[in-house]
Amino acid sequence: MKTQTIQELFSGTHLHQKVSLQGWVRTFRANRFIALNDGSTLNNLQCVVDFEQTDENLLKRITTGAAIHIEGTLVESQGKGQKYEVQVSHLEVIGDSDPDQYPIQPKKHSFEFLRDNAHLRVRTSTFSAVMRVRSALSFAVHDYFRKEGFYYVHTPIITGSDAEGAGEMFRVSTLDPKQTPLDEAGDTDFTKDFFGKETNLTVSGQLEAETYAMGLGKVYTFGPTFRAENSNTSRHLAEFWMIEPEVAFYQLDQNMDLAEDFIKYVLQYVVDNCEDDLAFLDQRLSNEEKTKPQIERRPMGLLEQIRFVVDNQFVRLSYTEAFDILRNSKPNKKKKFKFPVDEWGVDLQSEHERYLVEKHFKCPVILFDYPAKIKAFYMRLNDDGKTVRAMDVLFPGIGEMVGGAQREERLDVLQKRMSEMGIEEKELDWYLDLRRFGTAPHAGFGLGFERLVQFTTGMSNIRDVIPFPRTPQNASF
Ligand code: 4AD
Ligand code: MG
Repeated sequence: MKTQTIQELFSGTHLHQKVSLQGWVRTFRANRFIALNDGSTLNNLQCVVDFEQTDENLLKRITTGAAIHIEGTLVESQGKGQKYEVQVSHLEVIGDSDPDQYPIQPKKHSFEFLRDNAHLRVRTSTFSAVMRVRSALSFAVHDYFRKEGFYYVHTPIITGSDAEGAGEMFRVSTLDPKQTPLDEAGDTDFTKDFFGKETNLTVSGQLEAETYAMGLGKVYTFGPTFRAENSNTSRHLAEFWMIEPEVAFYQLDQNMDLAEDFIKYVLQYVVDNCEDDLAFLDQRLSNEEKTKPQIERRPMGLLEQIRFVVDNQFVRLSYTEAFDILRNSKPNKKKKFKFPVDEWGVDLQSEHERYLVEKHFKCPVILFDYPAKIKAFYMRLNDDGKTVRAMDVLFPGIGEMVGGAQREERLDVLQKRMSEMGIEEKELDWYLDLRRFGTAPHAGFGLGFERLVQFTTGMSNIRDVIPFPRTPQNASF
């Protein structure tokens, strides 16, 4: 007999029919009611066992976490809280679960505890909802770009260049750490390494995506990126997924339009397609907020905030305008910021970004034209000689969601910036070739996928929106 998913059964088309199901027991009450979940939807399906007709030893094996197979008839439920239930005619335990050992008990667990049990946490309502939303968001990403005529490019994971020039990379090497070959100067001799040179895990697919944009026109990458920055925050991972579109002939304004339109599209997609999961996460967040002091509570509920972002235009302003607002702000004058905003050119910290978004404008903000000194070498220099065509999209509760720029397409200007920043030309000769042969304005950005999932699901810690988080001192599973 063909098995159905619970999601299929909730569509109602199988009413009064014989059905077959497989899933895991969430709870078993009164030797009679099994709450079954198979992951296809947030909702459990109630399966009613006739205990008088069922072997006692079999009933004992229906424990939380056990995998079971059920056959029965789908009927309208008489009980409260569910529309349908299954009257069980055949029951089989596929995999037992010792109730005294199984870590995921039918009660509230802390997220810290569940992180330690990340291999089992997807069997909870919260994590299954988050991961279904994550899956829907990634589908929406591809859907958007396909609809807009972009090509999906797989940029390399192992790379010989540091795209961001920040030096926060994980080395990829097959050299024996106990017997590292040395060159005449006493440094590691990477010519003896697997690739014959020093290589790392990529921090961004941008530079390679640029080469493809200069041939395919509109491209995007969506893959894992790695950063060895030692930041133990609720918004940083050592391994995260980034979406990076890159478009030939685009200038910064078009890049901002693209970022805004893209974000709104994927958010609308999950609103339309993940109704149950978002409603559940909205309720979860509102319960969590109630435990906080009034002043720390979020101004909007989860769904309300998503809708707000979809319906309202993002504010756009230059770094210089933002700097003035921040310098004259109350927290700055009262020395409430950890990093004071006093001199033009300072890098903006998350506390400043969140002040702009959450207190001042109360909506997403796109900041552009940042000081050249605090941004990467590839960003296009403005005529003022001190700012570059950078853009960051800042989000409530998150801070920086997107970082991007119009790229420097002028060979001489790019060479000058590279030499000022101590980047060797021979390392990036292929990148410079793009400026030698048919150069053109182009622009793109990178969106941190986990930060998007955080915003959409209302999870406050980034470790809870990726199946197996990698952070300093932690690479379990
Ligand atoms: O601002 P970033 O460093 O920009 C780049 O890497 C560019 N090459 C992108 C481009 O123009 N194609 O990173 C982009 C985004 C950030 O805005 C943030 O959302 C996310 O990636 N991000 C992280 N997310 C999780 N953990 C980390 N450690 C992150 N670092 C950056
Ligand atoms: Mg950035």
